[in-house]
Amino acid sequence: MDEKIKVMLLMEEGYIRDSVRVILSVTEDIVLVGETDNLGTALELIKKFTPDITIVGEEVRGNDGFALSQRIMDEDPFHPIIFIATRLNVDTYKNALYVGIKEVLKAPLYPDELKSSIVRVHKASKKAGRLTVHMDAEASLENEVKPDIKETDEEESRARIISTFSIKGGVGKTTISTNLAVTLAQGGNKTALLDLDIYSGDVALAMNIIPRRRVSDLGNDIQRLDLDLLESYMVRHPSGVMVFLAPFNIEHADYIKLDHIEKVLDLLKQEYDYIIIDCPSYFYDIAMMALKKSDVILLVATMDILSLKSIKNTISVLENAKVAKNKMKLVLNKYIRGVGLTVNDVEATLSMPVTTVIPLENQLAISSMNQGIPFVAGMRRAKVSRGIYNLAREILVMAGGKA
Ligand SMILES: Nc1ncnc2c1ncn2[C@@H]1O[C@H](COP(=O)(O)OP(=O)(O)OP(=O)(O)O)[C@@H](O)[C@H]1O
Ligand SMILES: [Mg+2]
Repeated sequence: MDEKIKVMLLMEEGYIRDSVRVILSVTEDIVLVGETDNLGTALELIKKFTPDITIVGEEVRGNDGFALSQRIMDEDPFHPIIFIATRLNVDTYKNALYVGIKEVLKAPLYPDELKSSIVRVHKASKKAGRLTVHMDAEASLENEVKPDIKETDEEESRARIISTFSIKGGVGKTTISTNLAVTLAQGGNKTALLDLDIYSGDVALAMNIIPRRRVSDLGNDIQRLDLDLLESYMVRHPSGVMVFLAPFNIEHADYIKLDHIEKVLDLLKQEYDYIIIDCPSYFYDIAMMALKKSDVILLVATMDILSLKSIKNTISVLENAKVAKNKMKLVLNKYIRGVGLTVNDVEATLSMPVTTVIPLENQLAISSMNQGIPFVAGMRRAKVSRGIYNLAREILVMAGGKA
């Protein structure tokens, strides 16, 4: 390892902090750049020493470690946190998932366990590095987001197709695909967004964009279609996302054929880093083809039993269509406590881990949809935006992890 991993501690004075200090002091590749039991000091130290990882204790001078972690992530949604707890139970993992904590370790700590956790978290966050956001409330949107230098190795250059899907309507597929695309584009990734909900076409409204050309005319150009011609059918959103909209008039939807969209995907794959697909709430030939071509299928569930039932059906239909289950990732949207269903129940019912939890934030989600401004563009500190950042980070890690 060429550079040492910089670690900071926000922990209560005591034997756990002492043991972390001792373990790190004898670990060559890791350096402790600061330690404190005060949140204000921790935030200062993070600014000053830009640690790669902060280790947070379960309770720090009477303050809940999860709330402290949340505050750190309010400042930088991508700051990797390792959480150390004295007892582990379902709530610990749920809270960690909710806040976006990378790993939870149980005290007392084993040196190898702590070291490998730090190395693992650091490696994952480096892969997601292009998403680093530098918070500056005064700066304009363009200036706020400073993408890191684009990695050029072969592994990173391959396009990833990510679809949002669920056969239940209104669960947040369009919300997630538009906000995810904007987040990835803001991070410096060349990102395309395809609206395959061709009879509904909500992406245009959700992003407040109008088509430049009738996508239903694509068929006339299909023989000579190249990327330049294809991009003339797409609309550039201010975030940089290139959007392929659904036809403006519903009667034009039937002009969109399977082989057109197949060609569109093949062309985009040559040049784009991420292709996000907003699917409709039903299976049709084009959506099925897109799902089969996808590297990741985000199954969007909400906190109700009907949604879980429909996801179960979706999984079995996809499996019957020979779509690999490991491509399917569960996203729990509109998350809210106290509705008789927990994250744990969702995972148990679907026999699948929840990849990301996106909280219910009615006013913001609906008003951003009504204004046509994805909330990650305007309300970056909102809980719902943080949910999308966590999802984007998972996607980048998954993409980087794939050979
Ligand atoms: N996390 C959230 N919190 C609160 N409201 C949300 C959230 N996510 C989405 N919504 C709202 O739910 C409604 C449906 O969202 P959206 O259109 O994204 O769902 P969809 O799955 O694409 O629907 P359709 O099946 O009709 O295409 C919208 O009003 C949206 O603002
Ligand atoms: Mg939709």
